[in-house]
Amino acid sequence: MSAGPGTPTRNPVGAGTLAAAVEKRLTAFFETRDEIVAPLGPVFVDSAAALRDFVLRGGKRTRPAFAWTGWLGAGRDPEELDADAVLTACSALELVQACALIHDDIIDSSRTRRGFPTVHVDYEQRHRDQRWAGDAGHYGVSVAILIGDLALAWADDMTRDAGLPADAYARFAPVWAAMRTEVLGGQLLDIHGESAGDETVEAALRINRYKTAAYTIERPLHLGAALAGADPDLIAAYREFGTDIGIAFQLRDDLLGVYGDPVVTGKPSGDDLREGKRTVLIAEALQRADATAPATAELIRRSLGTDVTPEQVTELRTAITDLGAVDAVEKRIAALTDQAMTALEACTATPEAKRQLRAQALAATARTY
Ligand code: IPE
Ligand code: MG
Ligand code: MG
Repeated sequence: MSAGPGTPTRNPVGAGTLAAAVEKRLTAFFETRDEIVAPLGPVFVDSAAALRDFVLRGGKRTRPAFAWTGWLGAGRDPEELDADAVLTACSALELVQACALIHDDIIDSSRTRRGFPTVHVDYEQRHRDQRWAGDAGHYGVSVAILIGDLALAWADDMTRDAGLPADAYARFAPVWAAMRTEVLGGQLLDIHGESAGDETVEAALRINRYKTAAYTIERPLHLGAALAGADPDLIAAYREFGTDIGIAFQLRDDLLGVYGDPVVTGKPSGDDLREGKRTVLIAEALQRADATAPATAELIRRSLGTDVTPEQVTELRTAITDLGAVDAVEKRIAALTDQAMTALEACTATPEAKRQLRAQALAATARTY
């Protein structure tokens, strides 16, 4: 069903982009919080505004896009009465993402995100500028923990108040709950891997599965399908596709973390090395170096997680490439993408959704450095 010229349309995306429609939903949601926030006074109003700015000033809206396409792909129509509520529930994924990123930047001691100071750094700076009492760094971290918590709580509020029919919400809620738990578990495995120095490819892949794939693609698609009341076969196919593309997406991100252009990534070059992230790329490099080049293995182990200079970043990049680790990761990305596309082709999603998902998968995994 498509609206003819001059026909009023219910389609919540309409002629605009999905990202713009998601941002409209988020803006409207933030307005609904004003009456709860305002009585606490200007300090909290300001923190809520900081969250709103963080959410609205950037991001690719990847998760809502996968959820929305998952819903459409199960044969649903943007002109349907429920479409608006579905889009609102999909948009709430951006609030989970805000929580994950704000807390991730504390965990990873990251000072910039999307080209801006991270939330804890922003508040640390405010503390310094105002010459307030106590430790500025601790204050910044404390505020950012609370703003991240607020984002997660509001994500739940936004889905509950989206106006979904009771049966759709009942199908949605357990998937949403699983996703929240998985992303927290994935983050925990990630920091454990960094501290305990787990160097296996398997450990890195498991982290990618839960930290990224589940909550970026697999579960968003599953959420869309659950809202649509899709059959178990389509849900299984979506999840297979989402897991493979999600891992490929994180592998691409891992390459960007070492080789990315700061202008493109919004993060300082070589950040992942400084942070000592235990990625598949590093696992592949160490495995190869242990077998063939012990001095290089020593260099990588000694440098990871230290404040490496730009020259050292260049040296490490060359070493990792020469070991064949970049090629190995590129091959994994290609194999996962092929496998995902095969699952997608075979499933019962609508042809338009398949086309859309292929495009989204390629955008998420494309080489951009
Ligand atoms: C972030 O992981 C994952 C989540 C927020 C769940 P990373 O630490 O690997 O990602 P960036 O590089 O900071 O975005
Ligand atoms: Mg990080
Ligand atoms: Mg992290």
